[in-house]
Amino acid sequence: MSTGTMKKSHSQWSSRMGFMLAAAGSAVGLGNIWKFPYMAGQMGGSAFVLTYLLFMFVIGLPILVLEWLIGRRGQKNPIHTMEDVAASEGHSKSWRWVGIIGVVGSFLILSFYSVIGGWATDYIVLAAQGSFEGANGDITGKIFESFLGNVNHLLTWHTVFMAVTAFIVAMGVGAGLERACKIMMPGLGILLLVLVGYAAYVSGPSFTAAFKFLFTPDFSAINGTAMLAALGHAFFSLSLGMGIMMAYGSYLGKDVNLLSTACTVVILDVIVAMLSGMAIFPLVFANGLQPGEGPGLIFVTLPIAFGNMAGGTILGVLFFIFLTFAALTSSISLLEPTVELLEEKTPLGRKSATIASSLVIWALGIACLLAFNEWAEVKLFGKNLFDLLDYLTSKIMLPLTGLGTVVFGAWMMNQKRIREELNLNDFWFTVWTVLTRYIVPVAVIIILVYGFL
Ligand code: PHE
Repeated sequence: MSTGTMKKSHSQWSSRMGFMLAAAGSAVGLGNIWKFPYMAGQMGGSAFVLTYLLFMFVIGLPILVLEWLIGRRGQKNPIHTMEDVAASEGHSKSWRWVGIIGVVGSFLILSFYSVIGGWATDYIVLAAQGSFEGANGDITGKIFESFLGNVNHLLTWHTVFMAVTAFIVAMGVGAGLERACKIMMPGLGILLLVLVGYAAYVSGPSFTAAFKFLFTPDFSAINGTAMLAALGHAFFSLSLGMGIMMAYGSYLGKDVNLLSTACTVVILDVIVAMLSGMAIFPLVFANGLQPGEGPGLIFVTLPIAFGNMAGGTILGVLFFIFLTFAALTSSISLLEPTVELLEEKTPLGRKSATIASSLVIWALGIACLLAFNEWAEVKLFGKNLFDLLDYLTSKIMLPLTGLGTVVFGAWMMNQKRIREELNLNDFWFTVWTVLTRYIVPVAVIIILVYGFL
């Protein structure tokens, strides 16, 4: 931690375990629990799941490793890390743009991520009050609708969620981010196992149906749309292209093995997504509900199941606590790059930097939540503000930064040094080179181009 006015010393994770949990905490989030199951539901289940799995390892993993590697070299916020590492490799400082787009992206994403985090938090209370007991789709749909229409309500929960996020980040890398993840991640794992166990217990044959739905390989169902969605989601799910992993890498000591840690994080992230599916779909099937409902799956469809099963109230509460934890360990990572930047480059200390950036993000979040009600008709390029920000960040900024990172890492940096740092033998170095020089950039360019269509 920096002390006094000198900002020379840079924070560090206290252990490899702490770093890994923080990185996994960032990766595991609404994307795994909310987005992955509904996308799988919409895109025919296993076809989507298999492609997603493939992309996580072939595309996601190398970019994750490169973000950490570059971050660790730079030991600064993503913008100045890119600048310094580019200069030390003999290239233009304009590579800083990779960092700039990343930091701006994480900043923008947090504004709407916090709104949804607020929904998750509020649903803990709704579930605890027994609001879903005996409910059918009409009722849960109305609850969700009236909830989206109530500005004060959304504002309250967005504020609560953002305040908790800021509180954790203000405490610093070790005492804040790392400690929060050390507490919340195991909690999250236990909750998930309880949820899956319960789903298996109450849903009987539907559990098998859900398993088949998610995992029976049906290669004929793999089409371009599913592949593209899976690719984009692999990115989002690993928190890539937002300067986050670069910022996390900047707090990393030389002794950590990047490849094995990255494998662990990818595996954990995938397991949480799969198990979330196995907690949700058995209940959906057992209640005769539709898996392809889209974004409402968790907030509209699942509450019907909770409202009509034995122990559903308690299970609902546990589920939304689980969702809130997952969202929080990601939201703190979204705030970190901006705070790191302000802390290093302005006279602000950690706490003031956190407060300043959180206030701006909070205000932007208000504009996002108004998109669900008062400003629903305010549209730019045919999209309301919430959709516009989502589109701009996940379809454009995120792949752009990802592309910049991999092109920089594979074509601009000294490959011999990278090979030594990653400890690769001839075979794996060839695989690494082919992936990072050709396959990953081409895949990312494809996502980018399709994002525009
Ligand atoms: N990876 C997180 C998730 O799956 C989302 C996220 C995106 C977190 C971007 C941080 C940054 O929910």
